[in-house]
Amino acid sequence: MAKPHSTFVCQNCGAISQRWQGRCEACEEWNTIVEEAPSSGIGARAAAGKGRVFALEGLDGQSKEAPRIISGITEFDRVAGGGLVPGSVILIGGEPGIGKSTLLIQACATLAMKKHRVVYISGEEAVAQVRLRAARLGLASAPVELAAETSVEDILATLKQGKQPALVIIDSIQTMWTSTVEAAPGTVTQVRGAAQALIRFAKTTGACVILVGHVTKDGQIAGPRVVEHMVDAVVSFEGDGGHQFRILRAVKNRFGPTDEIGVFEMTGSGLSEVANPSALFLSGRDASAPGAAVFAGMEGTRPVLVEVQALVAPTSLGTPRRAVVGWDPARLSMVLAVLEAHGGLRLGQYDVYLNVAGGLRVNEPAADLAAAAALVSSLTGAPLPAETVYFGELGLSGAVRPVTHAGQRIKEAAKLGFKAAVGPDQSGEAGPLSLRACGHITALVADIAASGAGRRAPAPQRPRAVGTA
Ligand code: TYD
Ligand code: MG
Repeated sequence: MAKPHSTFVCQNCGAISQRWQGRCEACEEWNTIVEEAPSSGIGARAAAGKGRVFALEGLDGQSKEAPRIISGITEFDRVAGGGLVPGSVILIGGEPGIGKSTLLIQACATLAMKKHRVVYISGEEAVAQVRLRAARLGLASAPVELAAETSVEDILATLKQGKQPALVIIDSIQTMWTSTVEAAPGTVTQVRGAAQALIRFAKTTGACVILVGHVTKDGQIAGPRVVEHMVDAVVSFEGDGGHQFRILRAVKNRFGPTDEIGVFEMTGSGLSEVANPSALFLSGRDASAPGAAVFAGMEGTRPVLVEVQALVAPTSLGTPRRAVVGWDPARLSMVLAVLEAHGGLRLGQYDVYLNVAGGLRVNEPAADLAAAAALVSSLTGAPLPAETVYFGELGLSGAVRPVTHAGQRIKEAAKLGFKAAVGPDQSGEAGPLSLRACGHITALVADIAASGAGRRAPAPQRPRAVGTA
């Protein structure tokens, strides 16, 4: 039999090539290809034609569903789809220092207090460091079993001893290595091999396994996207250094809805849950300033109100600047184009900045109308009415299109003391608020311009406030 050749594996996307090259042809990343020895064993038995015969089953068979394990951290359980599913594997990704280890040690401690066997394996920190953190969080007395280990075989052998664990944390998957694969630790092949072994353990024993994954600068879970396909749920933990808020978001979930978020606040004593995120995101708002609109958004099944801030200022550059934080830049370009084409605004001489306050990332097209309102308000210098929320998707024709869950958005706004909503005509769902139907972008621009007309003249540096086309 021919001697197996080593393969060249891209550490970014997992693509395999036959020779080394500077740039991966699949993902076009530079310097990511590493030589790896062929994996031993896998496929060898199949090649020898010694397959085992197994029974096939029907869809209507009886499978008993084990109850979900409720961690007690409501925001965490919500993102998992209503508790952890026994036998499932969750990958949690996030930037270094965002609080992954803190969140998981807190979840471990609450579960361990409820008499579940919980094991926390750290490949990055020494046992003393994990203990120190737990002590700082006031969780030192929780019966969590700790170890600092990186060998998957040793970990699995240890886990199989004693009572079956309900939850196993592997912090992080990139530090694990398995001796069944002849590649350096940290390479795609190793990470994949280690993940495979841990997933098999979860499926056969019914323990829930949570893998921590590092993310790269652009927010991808580092290296092995392949692991994302192997696990049952992928959850990302987001936030930025300037804010205390941390958002746990389900990206993929085989056992529950995605796009569900959990909101936490990083405090001196660990992560605390935020039960009413809208109040948090709107705190410190200056409702009398122009350029701020409150967007009634939805995150999964939960309505969340956030402030969309815009600054439109005369440019000193040849090409005006367009900058966005917390929203899709392509959507900002689209909203600006619609405002120019159908709203009669001239924005070519202005820099435009858009920011979603509080560090939240909004992914919904329903934020178009709020962004447009904030932009027009900033351009005209007319503040928007204080007790009004905005929602609605903009079409390229300037029409405001209906959005989902209008009723829930309005209910949340009413709960927080808002009096009116501006959105597409979905008056059936107005509920407790007065819904001012806005069918077209021209109506929105005219409304805001009219409310500004009664005030002081716009600031002198904005002479060409609303020029009609
Ligand atoms: P950590 O959980 O170690 O992050 P990760 O595992 O995602 O890399 O979190 C570390 C950060 O959290 C660190 O910058 C300090 C901060 N922190 C607090 O603010 N309060 C606390 O009680 C703890 C434990 C951490
Ligand atoms: Mg950590």
